[in-house]
Amino acid sequence: MSTIPILRLGAVKDVQRLKDHAQSLGLNLPCDGELLAGPASSLRWPLERGGFKFGNRIAVQPMEGWDALPDGNPSEYTMRRWQRFGKSGASLIWGGEAVAVSQEGRANPNQLVIAPHTFAGLANLRAALLQSHRETTGHDVPPLIGLQLTHSGRYCRPNAHDRSEPRILYHHPILDAKLGLSEDSSLLTDEQIAVIVEDFHRAARAARDLGFDFVDIKHCHGYLGHEFLSAHTRHGNYGESFENRTRFLREVVEGIRSIAPGLQIAVRLSAFDTVPFRPDPATSSPGKMGVGIPEPFAHLIPYRWGFGVNPLRPTEMDLCETRQFLALLEELEIRLVNLTAGSPYYNPHIQRPAFYPPSDGYQPPEDPLVGVVRQMEAVRLLKSQFPRLIIVGTAYSYLQDFLPHVAQAALREGWVDFIGLGRMVLSYPGLLLDASEGRPIQHRLVCRTFSDCTTAPRKGLPSGCYPLDEFYKVSDLAEKLKSAKARRS
Ligand SMILES: Cc1cc2nc3c(=O)[nH]c(=O)nc-3n(C[C@H](O)[C@H](O)[C@H](O)COP(=O)(O)O)c2cc1C
Ligand code: SF4
Repeated sequence: MSTIPILRLGAVKDVQRLKDHAQSLGLNLPCDGELLAGPASSLRWPLERGGFKFGNRIAVQPMEGWDALPDGNPSEYTMRRWQRFGKSGASLIWGGEAVAVSQEGRANPNQLVIAPHTFAGLANLRAALLQSHRETTGHDVPPLIGLQLTHSGRYCRPNAHDRSEPRILYHHPILDAKLGLSEDSSLLTDEQIAVIVEDFHRAARAARDLGFDFVDIKHCHGYLGHEFLSAHTRHGNYGESFENRTRFLREVVEGIRSIAPGLQIAVRLSAFDTVPFRPDPATSSPGKMGVGIPEPFAHLIPYRWGFGVNPLRPTEMDLCETRQFLALLEELEIRLVNLTAGSPYYNPHIQRPAFYPPSDGYQPPEDPLVGVVRQMEAVRLLKSQFPRLIIVGTAYSYLQDFLPHVAQAALREGWVDFIGLGRMVLSYPGLLLDASEGRPIQHRLVCRTFSDCTTAPRKGLPSGCYPLDEFYKVSDLAEKLKSAKARRS
């Protein structure tokens, strides 16, 4: 555990205090003392690159709500979330949320699916977002809107919240045990992979026909696309060499280019990873989660089950293959890249730094600010090496009231092209718009990283900002958790 006490950012009123704290942790955090408004704000700088034109540097990250209808159509909750995405004023809407390319590839029975019976519903989501964007910004320049296409692979739960139906590419010495998989549980065959590739092609064509500007071929967070990249131990066409581990991407892209010409392709990538974490039994007690520690891995060196991981010291990142992957994206003429890290399932402190852990997590093993800067630094490095890409950065929500100060400085200093809002967009979609228009920040809406939006779906409930979004109520969550628990016992 970090020996440095964690500063609760929610209690910090002064930006200098944040800067001092970052310095005390040895972090290089870009952070402006004052917010600028209008064209002076780097958040409002236009961007023109690779044939794309954007009016500002605000992006909305894909944020799923576990609230689609059982048949994969949006519900009224889904619709409301997409309307709120539009209220961000962002010029880039990255995917809206993960949309399964098939029923069997859903991460939960309430994930959106793209199929003929959901086309109208998905088109309605896009239309609702565009309308609220127009109403919010007062202009008719639409944001670039993509759809995030996914197959959940190891984390498929298509039929019941409490029944995992993993579709895996290789046996993972730590994650298999967490999912109760035995050594002889089956792997996806090359033939089954070919069917999934075709599902992506069909889904992409449908997305284009529904008016989406791009599709994201999701390669992050432990889902199938990401698992391909770490399939070192798989034999055959999709394992071992870098070329084989990226074959899925190349096949998906090739098919989309022929079946849906004109549609832009994007990739969200976990740029680095680390070994799975668990609560330390030595610091756990009844009702109290332990501090996160890595699962034992000494017997697994060289570590061959990660992407962007140093095989000899797997708790450290290694960006060599990440660079190779970005070079491949350039070769494939993919310009839109969204960088994230790790997985919410096995190392949430890497993926979404939070003060309060989700129910299936652990107490933070480091000051969450370290996690924010880890992602920011990786993005800075990669952006400097791939200046032709348009790169969205992730994991800023932990910065809370100071997110705009850091975003403004990071953009001005060229660390990143877009500031992607994840959790913050659930509680306060207009934060960066308010900040860059000189309006007062509404502190009561600022995400405090309570993690309820992650905990709720872990319990089979719709996600949402229960503590701060008046549409959901904490009491609702408490009630729902109680009855979910009663149902299970
Ligand atoms: C409730 C919830 C749903 C999410 N859904 C998705 C998703 O559908 N696709 C995806 O790539 N990431 C998803 N993420 C991850 C976010 O896009 C983002 O990477 C993460 O929250 C860190 O950014 P932040 O600090 O701004 O929250 C989700 C995160 C949360 C909390
Ligand atoms: S529930 Fe709300 S405050 Fe908590 S992490 Fe999610 S968005 Fe932030």
